[in-house]
Amino acid sequence: MLLLGAIVLSVPAMAAPANGAKPANTQTKQTTPAEFVGADACATCHEAQSKNFAFNPHTRLAQKHDGSAVTCEDCHGAGKAHVDGGGDKSKIFSPKEASAKDVDAKCLSCHAGTHPNFERSPHGKGNVSCVSCHSIHDSKAPEHLLKASQPELCYQCHTDVKPSFDMPFHHRVNEGLVTCSDCHNVHGTFQANNVRTTADQNAVCTKCHTETRGPFVFEHAPVRAEGCMSCHTPHGSQNARLLNMPSIATLCNQCHSPVAAGTVHGMGAGSSTITPCINCHTMIHGSNISQAFIR
Ligand code: HEC
Ligand code: HEC
Ligand code: HEC
Ligand code: HEC
Ligand code: HEC
Ligand code: HEC
Ligand code: HEC
Ligand code: HEC
Ligand code: HEC
Ligand code: HEC
Repeated sequence: MLLLGAIVLSVPAMAAPANGAKPANTQTKQTTPAEFVGADACATCHEAQSKNFAFNPHTRLAQKHDGSAVTCEDCHGAGKAHVDGGGDKSKIFSPKEASAKDVDAKCLSCHAGTHPNFERSPHGKGNVSCVSCHSIHDSKAPEHLLKASQPELCYQCHTDVKPSFDMPFHHRVNEGLVTCSDCHNVHGTFQANNVRTTADQNAVCTKCHTETRGPFVFEHAPVRAEGCMSCHTPHGSQNARLLNMPSIATLCNQCHSPVAAGTVHGMGAGSSTITPCINCHTMIHGSNISQAFIR
C-alpha cells in the first residue's frame, strides 16, 4: 500500500521535467498561484485543525515519500477568496456541507489508485462516503484515520450483523482475533458483499484456512464450485464448525440422495444417524488418496 502511494504520488512529479505533466494537485497551484494562501495563513484562524496536522499521515507519510506534504488547500481548494472574505464559508470547499459524491471525488483525486472500485461498491452506491468512516481532523482510532476502531465502526450501521458474532460458534471478531476487513474490502471488490479474494483469486477463507484450499487429486466439487458458503456460514452459527445445517446428514443429503441399502453404508440411510457421515468421510474438503474422502 505504501509503495503504491509512493508511486502514484512521486512518479508524476519525477516525470514532470520530461513530459511536462504535473501532479493534478500542484498544477492548479502553479497555474493560478495567486488564489492560494498556504497553510500558515489558514493557521492564523484555524488553530485546532492546524496545530496537529504535522502528525497527520497526510503530512507525515507523504513527506517520507517525496518530501511534499498534502496541505489544507489540497482538500479545501484555493483559500484566498475565503480569507479575503474574512472566512466566508461559501468560498471554501467544506466537506461537512458537500454531498457524499463531491467529497468522494475530492478524496479519490489522490486515492483512486488504491481504491478504484469505490463508487461501484455497495458503500459508494449507498451514499456512504469516505468521511462516514474516516475523519481527517478528529480520528478516534490510531490507524488509517478511522472514526472508530473495528468492529464498533461497522456496528454503528450494521446492527443486523452484530448478533451473529455473539453466537456459540463464531469468528472471534469481537475478541479482536479476526477483523471485518480481513474478509471484506469496504472500498469495493469484484465479489458480492464486498468480499475479498486472496492474491491468487482464491476464496478469501483459504488465506487463513490453507489446508482447505487444495488442489487435491480428488476434489469435493462444491468446495470449489459453490464455495465454502455452501456448507458454512461466515460470521457465526448455532452449529459447531460454523456449519449452516444443524445435522451433518441433512447437510450432505441436500446434494446426495440418502445412500442406498446394501452398499458400504450398511443398513442404508438410517445408519448415518448412528454414524455421522464425517466419521468416515473425514477429508471432506478433498483428498489426495481417497475418491470418497475417507482419508
Ligand atoms: C486530506 C484532506 C484534508 C486536508 C489536507 C485538510 N482537511 Fe480540513 N477537513 C477535511 C474534511 C474531510 C473535513 C470535514 C470534517 C472531518 O471529516 O473531519 C474538514 C474540515 C475542516 C474544517 C471545518 C471544521 C469542522 O468543524 O468540521 C476546517 C476549519 C478545516 N478542515 C481546516 C483545515 C486546515 C486549516 C487544514 C490544513 C492544516 C486542513 N483543513 C487540511 C479534509 C481535509
Ligand atoms: C481570517 C480568518 C480565516 C482564515 C485565514 C481562514 N479561515 Fe477558514 N473560516 C474562517 C471563519 C470565520 C469560518 C466560519 C466559521 C463558522 O461560521 O462556523 C471559516 C470556515 C472554514 C471552513 C468550514 C466551513 C464550514 O462549512 O463550516 C473551512 C473548511 C475552512 N474555513 C478552511 C480554511 C482553509 C483551508 C484556510 C486556509 C486556506 C482558511 N480556512 C483560512 C476564518 C478563516
Ligand atoms: C465503510 C467504511 C469506510 C469507507 C466508506 C471508506 N473507508 Fe477507507 N478504510 C476503512 C477501513 C476499515 C480501513 C482499514 C482496513 C482496510 O484497509 O481495509 C480503511 C483504510 C483506508 C486507507 C488506508 C489503507 C489502504 O487500503 O490504502 C485509505 C487510504 C482509505 N481507507 C481511504 C478511503 C477513501 C479515499 C474512501 C472514499 C473513497 C474510503 N476510504 C472510504 C473504512 C472505510
Ligand atoms: C492531494 C492528495 C490527497 C487528497 C485530496 C486526499 N489524500 Fe488521503 N492521503 C494522501 C497521501 C499522500 C497520504 C499519505 C499516505 C500515503 O502516501 O498513502 C494520505 C493518507 C491517507 C490515509 C491514511 C492511510 C494510512 O495508511 O494510514 C487515509 C485514511 C486517507 N488519506 C484518506 C483520505 C480521505 C478520506 C480524503 C478525502 C477527505 C483524502 N484522503 C484526501 C493524499 C491525499
Ligand atoms: C455510515 C454507515 C456505515 C458504516 C459505518 C459501515 N457501513 Fe457497510 N454498508 C452501509 C450501507 C448503507 C450499505 C449498502 C446498503 C446495504 O447493502 O446494506 C453497506 C454495505 C455493506 C456491505 C455489503 C452488503 C451487501 O448486501 O452487499 C458490507 C459487506 C459492509 N457494508 C461491511 C461493512 C464493514 C466491514 C464496515 C466497517 C469497516 C462497514 N460496512 C461500515 C453502511 C455502513
Ligand atoms: C470470516 C470472514 C468474514 C468476517 C470476519 C466478516 N464477514 Fe461479513 N461476510 C462474509 C462473507 C463470506 C459474506 C457473504 C455471505 C454469503 O455469501 O452468504 C458476508 C456478508 C456480509 C454482509 C451482507 C450479508 C449480511 O449478512 O447481512 C454484511 C453486511 C457483512 N458481511 C458485514 C460484516 C461486518 C460488519 C463484519 C465485522 C463485524 C463482518 N462482516 C465480518 C465474511 C466475513
Ligand atoms: C483472517 C483469518 C481468517 C479468515 C480470512 C477466515 N477464517 Fe475461519 N477461522 C479463523 C480462526 C483464527 C479461527 C479459529 C477461531 C477460534 O478459535 O475462535 C477460525 C475458525 C473457523 C471455523 C471453525 C473451526 C473449528 O474448529 O470449529 C470454520 C468452519 C471457519 N473458520 C471457516 C471459515 C470460512 C468459511 C471463511 C471464509 C468466509 C473463513 N473461515 C475465513 C481465521 C480466519
Ligand atoms: C461440502 C460441504 C463443505 C464445504 C463446501 C466446505 N466445508 Fe469446511 N467443513 C465441512 C464439514 C462437514 C466440516 C466438519 C468436519 C469435522 O467436524 O470433522 C468442515 C470443517 C471445516 C473447518 C474446521 C477444521 C476442519 O478441517 O475440520 C474449517 C476451518 C473449514 N471447514 C473451512 C472451510 C473452507 C475455508 C471452505 C472453502 C474453501 C470449506 N470449509 C468448504 C463441510 C464443508
Ligand atoms: C452443495 C452440494 C453438496 C454438499 C452439501 C455435499 N456434497 Fe458431496 N458431492 C457433491 C458433488 C457435486 C460431488 C461430485 C459429483 C459426484 O460424483 O456425485 C460430490 C462428491 C462427493 C463424494 C465422492 C463421490 C464419488 O463417488 O466420487 C463423497 C464421498 C461426498 N460427496 C460426500 C459428502 C458428504 C459426506 C457430505 C456432507 C458432509 C457432502 N458430500 C456434502 C455435492 C455436495
Ligand atoms: C461407516 C462409514 C461411513 C459412513 C458413516 C458414511 N459413509 Fe459414505 N462411504 C463410505 C465408504 C467406505 C465409501 C466408499 C465406497 C466405495 O468406494 O465403493 C462411501 C461412499 C460414499 C459416497 C460415494 C459413493 C456412493 O455411494 O454414491 C457418497 C456420496 C457417500 N458415501 C455419502 C455419504 C453420506 C452423505 C453419509 C452420511 C449420510 C455417509 N456417506 C456416511 C463410508 C461411510
